[in-house]
Amino acid sequence: MSGAQMDVVPNTEPVWLFGYGSLIWKVNFPYQEKVVGYVCGFSRRFWQGSTDHRGTPKAPGRVVTLVQSKEDRTWGIAYKVKPQDVSETMAYLDKREIDGYKTHQVEFFPAIPNHQPTMKVLVYIATETNPSYLGPTEMGALAQQIVNSRGPSGCNVEYAMELAKGMRGIAPHIQDTHLCELEAKIKELLQKRKLDETDGKEKLCACSYCS
Ligand code: BEZ
Repeated sequence: MSGAQMDVVPNTEPVWLFGYGSLIWKVNFPYQEKVVGYVCGFSRRFWQGSTDHRGTPKAPGRVVTLVQSKEDRTWGIAYKVKPQDVSETMAYLDKREIDGYKTHQVEFFPAIPNHQPTMKVLVYIATETNPSYLGPTEMGALAQQIVNSRGPSGCNVEYAMELAKGMRGIAPHIQDTHLCELEAKIKELLQKRKLDETDGKEKLCACSYCS
């Protein structure tokens, strides 16, 4: 089901949207409430290519998607969008995340006391058949691709590092192994690149992470 299909009937109920990627640290739509929590049966992976935001068609960057994994859970933030803002918000996100994602409805488990035990949320998940899907990749190669990629929304390093920082902020007790290992590898590669730059190699990015 895509967000665009949902727009046919005007919304009378609020919609909860689950963010586990850029929506952790970059929210450009109005929301009434936000709740930290998790969805079960999914792992967060940098397996989707980004040709339009954090990379280019010739040199795609890497952004996150959710992949099914029975035993795992993925932490993030659910945003409550008012009925009157749903159409515009979904249209905005469909456009922002146009590169291969579809919306799904899943169960969300709020991690705050006295909240309702679970609720349905909408979540963007990349289809494995979309042309930008890249799939599993060895961690070193993944980090290298991120360090080398940039696109119209900025460098890929910023995306990955802001996500890692954002997750530490909202769920410091959680270890997302894939994200933590990737962050460590990226830091290693950036250190090496900084040494190369002091040796006279061209500076590739001026963002606070890369410089
Ligand atoms: C997010 O949760 O931030 C997100 C991830 C993939 C596509 C759209 C949004």
